[in-house]
Amino acid sequence: MRQRLAVGNWKMHGSLPENRDLLDAVAAAAAGLKKAVCAVCVPFPYLAQAQSALAGTRMAWGAQNVSQHPKGAFTGEVSAAMLREFGCRYVLVGHSERRQLFGEGDATVAAKAKAALEAGLTPIVCVGETLAEREAGVTEKVVGRQFGAAAEVLGVKGLASSVLAYEPVWAIGTGKTATPEQAQAVHAFVRGLLARQDAGLANGVPILYGGSVKAANAAELFAMADVDGGLIGGASLAASEFTAICQAADAA
Ligand code: PGA
Repeated sequence: MRQRLAVGNWKMHGSLPENRDLLDAVAAAAAGLKKAVCAVCVPFPYLAQAQSALAGTRMAWGAQNVSQHPKGAFTGEVSAAMLREFGCRYVLVGHSERRQLFGEGDATVAAKAKAALEAGLTPIVCVGETLAEREAGVTEKVVGRQFGAAAEVLGVKGLASSVLAYEPVWAIGTGKTATPEQAQAVHAFVRGLLARQDAGLANGVPILYGGSVKAANAAELFAMADVDGGLIGGASLAASEFTAICQAADAA
């Protein structure tokens, strides 16, 4: 059975005192988990805080972005090796906010995923269409292109150590969740793309759904055959919500 995951994406939220309460609460909740892997991806300056609060618990942590370069004159960038020094297990790459607001294209996203893997991190490679793309009927074309660019650079071996996340842009932060059937349809399509690379990959690589996941809809989304868990934005900032979502992933 594929690994079940619930990963929080705090985005640019938090403060040292707020984080302390949230991290303590999610760490305590993680103690009750049996099979799901749960993690929080926090802003860079809070990695040390996450590390000290979560080390030794069942809650992993990670970052929301990484440089594609290993080191050098890249002002403002953070390398994958630096993230490893702070105990990160995961890093998001290609989140739609990075693609849309910071101009990250498919090639950059693929290079970031590769850099993450080379440093021993698990990249969570995000793909997803905009509302205009869905309405134009090109969802599979867009998701296929985004996946293909990563697959070409990572190869079967790299993909086997990665996690994928399908996040329809129209569902992110809008309260407008994809229906379980809409999510399943794209997840099955991505699963098929994995299978075309290698049959074993399709059975092994977790595909998370992201976009307005909350405690109230997590179980029905995670019950779908190809939905292996969630990438959680807003709801990961509330301990009780995120805890319930982690429990739903554990029970799925
Ligand atoms: P949301 O964000 O859960 O707030 O919709 C998801 C994401 O951007 O990863």
